[in-house]
Amino acid sequence: MEHIKGLIFDLDGVLVDTAKYHFLAWRRMANELGFDFNEHQNEQLKGVSRKQSLALILSWGGITLSPADFEKYMRLKNDWYLEFIQKMQPDEALPGADVFLRQSKAAGYKIALGSASKNSRLILDKLQFTHFFDAIIDGNVATESKPNPQVFLLGAKALGLTPNQCLVFEDAIAGIQAAHNGGMLAVGIGQPEILTQAEVVYPGLDGLQLAAILNELKTFYKA
Ligand code: BG6
Ligand code: MG
Repeated sequence: MEHIKGLIFDLDGVLVDTAKYHFLAWRRMANELGFDFNEHQNEQLKGVSRKQSLALILSWGGITLSPADFEKYMRLKNDWYLEFIQKMQPDEALPGADVFLRQSKAAGYKIALGSASKNSRLILDKLQFTHFFDAIIDGNVATESKPNPQVFLLGAKALGLTPNQCLVFEDAIAGIQAAHNGGMLAVGIGQPEILTQAEVVYPGLDGLQLAAILNELKTFYKA
């Protein structure tokens, strides 16, 4: 396992619980358009780009927008989302994220962000996490959405590593698939029943030891 040299973290759902804010902002938008959706449907939006999320939500409401209105509602939703993010405090990081990043960095691992979000830099700043990252690949850089591996491949490249030297931490099914499509192993953060494709799954970063994860992953490497 010595050859894992880089860790690539998804943001939303791995380092911070922004899903609740995305949900509130999208729901406000849907309500303005005269329909509603529930938390179960919201699960389908995790890891999905802003544009694709809007397309999906509109399909739930049976609504078609002109290209100009589509842009308008993407902007509105983001404005509402940012109202929450602007107020975000460092203690809104998910439990254990700070310690895990700190220990990984101290152990000499290169660290990248691999997120679909265009707001990632602001969120990392709010959490006071920016200094942990050697590279930030996000929705402003990547043109392809997960499960396309682009965001993680760019992350590996920015760290100066090959994909098989990197380990991905993801909470979304599409993200786990993106890691695999890029030739990387994936640590699932969430429920094993949902993240069935991940090599290992943990409920969160809290209390996790990187050495223990790497030890569990040994079985997935050829001798
Ligand atoms: C992902 C979230 O990380 O980023 C999605 O899981 C979100 O819910 C996507 O739609 C894009 O985020 P943003 O901040 O650019 O709207
Ligand atoms: Mg996520």
